[in-house]
Amino acid sequence: MSLSLKDIFEGIGGQPNSCTLQEYCAFAHYVQTTPSCRLLVFGVGRDSAAWRKLNHGNLTLFLENNTEWIDRIGKEIGKEHIIALTYQQTFEDWERTDFAADQVTLPVLESSPFNGEWDCVFVDAPWGPTFGRHQSTYAAIKSVRPGGIVGLHDCEREREQIVCRTLLEGNGFKMVEEVERLRIYQSPSEAVEETQLGPRSASRKQGDSR
Ligand SMILES: C[S@@+](CC[C@H](N)C(=O)[O-])C[C@H]1O[C@@H](n2cnc3c(N)ncnc32)[C@H](O)[C@@H]1O
Repeated sequence: MSLSLKDIFEGIGGQPNSCTLQEYCAFAHYVQTTPSCRLLVFGVGRDSAAWRKLNHGNLTLFLENNTEWIDRIGKEIGKEHIIALTYQQTFEDWERTDFAADQVTLPVLESSPFNGEWDCVFVDAPWGPTFGRHQSTYAAIKSVRPGGIVGLHDCEREREQIVCRTLLEGNGFKMVEEVERLRIYQSPSEAVEETQLGPRSASRKQGDSR
């Protein structure tokens, strides 16, 4: 018996620090309707198991900077599905560059999945009051395939709105849906060439699971 999106996300939606059920279902629709979806999620939490359940049989990878949350959710879903990363540029550091799109640094991690091959990328990290989401969104832009989908949560906040305007819309991403605090964007169908972001890889490599 296949589960509906509501079945999968009902117990989690609306919990403190989580998305609402409507927000989860809106993004989950794109995952569910993408054949063999490659799903990249910035941030782990009580929704991680639900993303895996939704995308069962396909690749789902989580990126997280908080070691306590990696341990906690790693016990639930398996640590092999989570890659640790470090954010180094605070939002204030980026503000000092006048929010220049070419001055955002990528998060640091050992084996980078920022390869322009992911179908859907969900950005709900880092934790709001810490670094800001310019680095994770920038990494999402580098990660998603041409025509792929990027969701950014907490867009009621001014910081995330700056990220939307400067990094997503400024690089040709089109908003396809806005549900409460979640904005869902589609990547340009041609790879973003050597614009402010630099080149992205356009082809999917055989056997490359990360
Ligand atoms: C907005 S939270 C992500 C919440 C997550 N998507 C969920 O299922 O609730 C952003 C970051 O806060 C931490 N975090 C995860 N779950 C949290 C929770 N329930 N309360 C506080 N912080 C959480 C993690 O480091 C995560 O990357």
